[in-house]
Amino acid sequence: MKTRIIGTGSCLPKAVVTNDDLSKYMDTSDEWISSRTGIKKRHLAVEETTASMSIEAAKQAMENAGVTAAEIDLIILGTVSGDFVTPACACEVQAAIGADRAVAFDINAACSGFMFALNIANAYIQAGLYRTALILGAETLSKIVDWEDRSTCVLFGDGAGAAVVRADENYGLLSFDQGSDGTKGDVLACPGRANNNPLIKNYQKLSYVHMDGQEVYKFAVTTVPASLQKTIEAAGLTAAEIDYFALHQANIRIIQSVSKRLHVNEDKFPISLDHCGNISAASVPILLDEMNRNGLLKPGMKVALSGFGGGLTWASAVVEW
Ligand code: UT7
Repeated sequence: MKTRIIGTGSCLPKAVVTNDDLSKYMDTSDEWISSRTGIKKRHLAVEETTASMSIEAAKQAMENAGVTAAEIDLIILGTVSGDFVTPACACEVQAAIGADRAVAFDINAACSGFMFALNIANAYIQAGLYRTALILGAETLSKIVDWEDRSTCVLFGDGAGAAVVRADENYGLLSFDQGSDGTKGDVLACPGRANNNPLIKNYQKLSYVHMDGQEVYKFAVTTVPASLQKTIEAAGLTAAEIDYFALHQANIRIIQSVSKRLHVNEDKFPISLDHCGNISAASVPILLDEMNRNGLLKPGMKVALSGFGGGLTWASAVVEW
């Protein structure tokens, strides 16, 4: 029995902010952002929330899969920017779509969140506990980035992506690799709520994402190709036999470096970061949905997926479409 992706969906906020727009608010330029990252614009939430975008993406994925809410056994949502500490965003999705039977919970694996959700769903399905799962990655990063730190805020955007996965006898997930390195947690971090109880002398202000971009870059260009190589070999394939690589959309230079290291043409690496920026856990499912809706994916095709980021965390998979 395999775990097959049978439908995808996504939602981006209405407001689009170009690099030139950002240069009106801070000392930056389209030239700097485009040349260092490949990002041209991003969507930022105004009225949208992490839950509202997740619900829209979920509905699209269910429609694309031809699955009703009653059929969903499990909802797993990767996010670092849910609207509430509790309830979980996955529970908000459950309520909105009416998936009464489902078990719903969030996970935090930063930019690898969707990939970790995929592997958890796969483990449940392989164990025979559940048959159909809705997995999501959703972020409103614009509320946790520091808009006074131009080295991070220009990179990120908001949005949500979803996929329905189901047990399938023929096609599905062929192999998986995932890992974490908690010793490097500080290179990409966002502190949680400060403890301001009456015993604390100094009132702590809210804190935002901070990142050592070069450390994250070094981690990505070494760990991602190694993880992909391992996963592709575990699937009994070579990199040349993979039809598409759907990577976390952090930086075009990271994607180019991975393509070089795997000796695979860049054409096999579809891109969404140019119009979305980096949307952490939502990057991979949004890209996958764009590929699906643009007709790139045909049954039986081999697609390698990879997410990487804060934690540090990383995860790769090879799926048959
Ligand atoms: O999901 C995973 C998340 N993170 C990543 O994947 C990040 C990986 N890292 C990167 O993509 C790159 O390290 C960045 C794009 C973040 C930065 O590129 P860089 O080539 O490492 O630039 P830098 O941080 O070394 O900064 C170079 C210069 C600095 O000026 P000085 O000190 O050389 O005068 C910065 O102050 O660029 C300046 N700078 C900017 N200038 C204009 C930093 N941010 C900006 C900006 N606009 N937005």
